[in-house]
Amino acid sequence: MKIFITGGCGQIGSHIADIHLARGDEVLAIDNFETGRRLHLPENNSKLTFVEGSIADKELIENLFGDFKPDVLVHTACSYKDPENWYGDMLTNGVGGVNLIKSSMDNDVKRFIYFQTALTYGVTPVENPITLGHPKNPANSSYAISKTTTEDYLEISGLDYVTFRLANVIGPRNVSGPLPIFYERLKSGKKCFVTEARRDFLYVKDLAAVAVKAADGTGHGPYHVSSGSDIAIIELYDAIVKALKLNDYPEPDLRPLGDDEAASILLDPVKTFTDFGEINFTPLSETITAAVEYYDEYGVHGGYTHLKQSQPE
Ligand SMILES: NC(=O)c1ccc[n+]([C@@H]2O[C@H](COP(=O)([O-])OP(=O)(O)OC[C@H]3O[C@@H](n4cnc5c(N)ncnc54)[C@H](O)[C@@H]3O)[C@@H](O)[C@H]2O)c1
Repeated sequence: MKIFITGGCGQIGSHIADIHLARGDEVLAIDNFETGRRLHLPENNSKLTFVEGSIADKELIENLFGDFKPDVLVHTACSYKDPENWYGDMLTNGVGGVNLIKSSMDNDVKRFIYFQTALTYGVTPVENPITLGHPKNPANSSYAISKTTTEDYLEISGLDYVTFRLANVIGPRNVSGPLPIFYERLKSGKKCFVTEARRDFLYVKDLAAVAVKAADGTGHGPYHVSSGSDIAIIELYDAIVKALKLNDYPEPDLRPLGDDEAASILLDPVKTFTDFGEINFTPLSETITAAVEYYDEYGVHGGYTHLKQSQPE
C-alpha cells in the first residue's frame, strides 16, 4: 500500500509512519519543520521518501501526487504555533488542505484521513460528553477556523474520508499543550499554573493504531477517539512529577476556570467503538513515562499552545 503522510515529522504523523513502515508499506512524507523534527522519521529506510516542503505549494503537491500515486492520504500537517499568524494558518490549514483534497480527487485516492481539533466545537461546548452532532463553533481561534475549513471542504469533496476530531493527543514527540510546558518548567524548578479543568487525553500510539485501521478501510466520516473518561489537569501534573521522580518541586498554583474555559472537554466515542471495535487505551502513567523519556533524550522543542495561555514567569 502507498501512503502519503503530511506533517510526517510531527507527533501524530511520525507515529503513523512508524506503523506503516514496520509492516512494509511505501510511505511518502512531507514536512516543512514548522513544529516537527526530522529525527522523528528514520533516516535510512528504503520504503520511505521524505520531502521537505509545504502543503501550501500547489505545484509541489500536484507533482508529488502525480509521481507517487498514493492509495491513501494521511493529512496531519497543520499550523498553530503563533495564534496571531492568521495568514500562515490559512495557508497551511486552509489552502494546504484544499490542495490535498483536489489532488486526491484528481488522482483517485481511495481514502483521505484527516485530523481535526475538538476546538471546532468551541471552547465551551454545550454538551458533555460532546457528540458528533454537536454544532461546529470554531470562532475561537485562527487554528480552529482554518482547520474546520478543510473538514468542511472534505464533506463536499465526494472523497471517502475519515476525520478524527481530537482533544489532547500526548506522548513522545508531543510539542503542544500542557505536557511539554509542565515538563520543561518542572525540570527547571519553576512554578506551574494548573487550572481546575478536566480534559480528554489520548496516547499518540493508541491513536496511530486506529488511524492505520482507517487507512486500511475502516470507518467513514467523523469520529472521536477517546477512552470516554476525562482526566484532571492536576492528575497530568502529578503524573509528570512522578515520572520525573522529583522529591522537591514547586507546588502548582491552582487557578479557577476562566469564563471561556469548559470544566470538562470529553468526546463521545460511541460511533468509534461501533465501527473500529475494541481500542487499546494506554494508562496515563505509561503515556507520561514514555513522553518524559523522549524529552529527556531529545529535549522539548516547542511548548506551543493553540490558544492564548500563560504560565507565571
Ligand atoms: N496534538 C493534539 O493534541 C491534537 C489535537 C487535535 C487535533 N490535532 C491535529 O492532529 C494533527 C497533528 O498534530 P500533532 O500533534 O502531530 O502536531 P505536530 O505539530 O507535532 O505536527 C504537525 C506537523 O505539520 C508540519 N507542518 C506544519 N505546516 C506544514 C506545511 N505547510 N507543510 C508541511 N508540513 C507542515 C509541522 O512541521 C509538524 O511536523 C494536526 O492536524 C492537528 O490539528 C492534534
